[in-house]
Amino acid sequence: MKLEKIFGPDLIRNKIHRLGAQISRDFKDRPLVAVCVLKGAFVFYADLIRSLSIEPEIDFVRMSSYADNTTSTGKIVFSKDMEISVKDKNVLIVEDIVDTGRSVSYLSRVLEERGPKSVSLCALIDKQERREVLIRVDYTGFVVQKGFIVGYGLDYAEKYRNLPGIFQLIPDE
Ligand code: IMP
Ligand code: MG
Repeated sequence: MKLEKIFGPDLIRNKIHRLGAQISRDFKDRPLVAVCVLKGAFVFYADLIRSLSIEPEIDFVRMSSYADNTTSTGKIVFSKDMEISVKDKNVLIVEDIVDTGRSVSYLSRVLEERGPKSVSLCALIDKQERREVLIRVDYTGFVVQKGFIVGYGLDYAEKYRNLPGIFQLIPDE
């Protein structure tokens, strides 16, 4: 396995600075709950919330998908739900990467049922090739077409989350 750098720490920092300014502008004087989708988004989230000039409420969710025997697709469940209420607040989901779009579409559907004012999505990486569900990413860090991405919170078998840059994982021939 080889790692090929695609976005370095300086580029990531600049991008987050811009995202933070945009989000701060859009949610100025509006109650915002920023929800980190564990585990992958934790590094991005920590940098993003520190780039904001507004004071969002902070919360975390974790989802897991398990294969069920009757369908090939598998189901998504919360393994950790939010702890604060989103009722009448604006919610910003912060994800590491949108791939098929299944998990984030599940999450926004569940949160919508709790009566928020709005639900928006911020994703560090929008990976487009395998998209199955039409998803609107309101705030995008980087767009990549395909491949397996690690670093800056993203893992392969729980490794590489600590890398300060973003890499493509290249399998051995
Ligand atoms: P989904 O296919 O959009 O539901 O993505 C589900 C989750 O799979 C993402 O939130 C990531 O945690 C993980 N994932 C998808 N693509 C990658 C990748 O390239 N590297 C690391 N994790 C990924
Ligand atoms: Mg994720």
